[in-house]
Amino acid sequence: MSRLEEEISRRRTFAIISHPDAGKTTLTEKLLLFGGAIHVAGAVKSNKIRKTATSDWMDIEKQRGISVATSVMGFDYEGFKINILDTPGHQDFAEDTYRTLTAVDSVIIVVDVAKGVEQQTRRLMEVCRMRNTPVIIFVNKLDREGRDPFDILDELESELKIAVRPLSWPISMGQSFKGVYNIYQNSLDLFTPDKQKVTERVEIDGFDDLRIDENIGEKDAGKLREDLELIEGVYPEFEVDDYLSGSLAPVFFGSALNTFGVKELLDCFIRIAPAPKPVVAEEREVRPSEETFSGFVFKIHANMDPNHRSCIAFVKICSGTFIRNANYLHVRSGKYIRFSAPTAFMAQKKNIVDEAFPGDIVGIPDTGNFKIGDTLTEGEMIHFRGLPSFSPEMFKYIENDDPMKAKQLNKGIDQLMDEGVAQLFINQFNGRKIIGTVGQLQFEVIQYRLLHEYNAQCRWEPISLYKACWIESDDDEALEAFKKRKHQFMAIDREGRYVFLADSSYVLQMAQNDFPKIRFHFTSEF
Ligand code: G4P
Repeated sequence: MSRLEEEISRRRTFAIISHPDAGKTTLTEKLLLFGGAIHVAGAVKSNKIRKTATSDWMDIEKQRGISVATSVMGFDYEGFKINILDTPGHQDFAEDTYRTLTAVDSVIIVVDVAKGVEQQTRRLMEVCRMRNTPVIIFVNKLDREGRDPFDILDELESELKIAVRPLSWPISMGQSFKGVYNIYQNSLDLFTPDKQKVTERVEIDGFDDLRIDENIGEKDAGKLREDLELIEGVYPEFEVDDYLSGSLAPVFFGSALNTFGVKELLDCFIRIAPAPKPVVAEEREVRPSEETFSGFVFKIHANMDPNHRSCIAFVKICSGTFIRNANYLHVRSGKYIRFSAPTAFMAQKKNIVDEAFPGDIVGIPDTGNFKIGDTLTEGEMIHFRGLPSFSPEMFKYIENDDPMKAKQLNKGIDQLMDEGVAQLFINQFNGRKIIGTVGQLQFEVIQYRLLHEYNAQCRWEPISLYKACWIESDDDEALEAFKKRKHQFMAIDREGRYVFLADSSYVLQMAQNDFPKIRFHFTSEF
């Protein structure tokens, strides 16, 4: 195996996703503890922007700073190089999360045992399903009273629309929580509530072993055997290939806060989770083991210092070896650029790196050259795709509130859109600019950043829209007829594609009925 192949095969790049408060931050921290990347609990700060903080701008700015530091966390564990990509905790930033999911090879979903599948989890799972991303589920907070584990499994299956297979099983829960039976490795992990320590493991020989009874008592042992028999009866054998193809999700139970069930998860994860996979570019499939470097920008993070506009572009390496100070082609502009200070993310530190491999993320200081989705190569003209925009859920007209600063405003809007903060549509009928977001908070962030970073003032005006959908047709005449009939509701996006602005679900449905030759898309990737 070449060095490149060796480096690729030991990399695991993934994201942890959950509904806010299910325990994503806590689990991330415990994984870092196992990797020796941090030494005390509490070292990873949650990057969630709490609802109550919406009016406190300093807080948002501070939180954004924290999220840069924790955007990517790399650590070594048992010979593997693990990269965890963090996603924003606040649901108004779901779009950021969607994009991060394009840069990972697998995902761990955290679910609260008392709450089950929540809305945000459902939406994020849809994105995973679109991309056939392998998913492992961690059911958290077993130290509290929650729902019956079998009910949770049924709910996961029906709500997340994926087959599930438990690989660990809880022994009681809440006050009487005793531990987890590790189905994957056939061992028993006993629960000793401790926030810092790793739990005690009892090796056993199948579930008839009397050591189970000795450790958890006859009653719980009896119940455990019943449960395990039921599991064996109901769920087929675990097949890694089903997991890798995205059709089956292994499920683990535990308590992140008590560091319980986390090591079981991690040990199984490094064995079954995929190493970096080939990435499909518009022109061809790019294999990680190709000698020449390629990568794409999946996230841009604005600097905190408003007087000095600079950003960090996060580049996911898709193939070859990235080398500091080499000349790379920025495909969109056709320019060659040298990066003298790329950073890698180990634990919570940013360090300058000399080289990086597929699966790794490098941070590149940038002063406005990059746009989300940009490709970097050694000279080949390829374009990575797969960074879809989703139809936003909230829309407002953006208006200039300071006539002297129109230029600043336009520049600011353009750059914020390049960063992927929100989506811009231009109404073809009246030429007005419409900003679409997935949450109210983004409007506030845009207004604040326009003022502080571009010295421009904007004002929001209401527009009542249900959805913006991208339209296309093989029949030019039909497309023209549609645009003519709906001319008041037509817009273009920043790539110049046609977008239909439907003001209600009824109108959208009618349009779909009346114009069967038009295809309506709810993401920009079609
Ligand atoms: P998030 O990133 O998914 O939003 O969740 P986070 O890890 O911040 O966890 C949300 C809350 O749930 C935190 O409590 C955290 O301590 C708690 N938690 C996480 N894992 C477990 C678990 O296994 N058992 C129990 N009982 N609680 C758990 P908080 O009070 O909101 O925050 P904090 O003040 O404790 O940090």
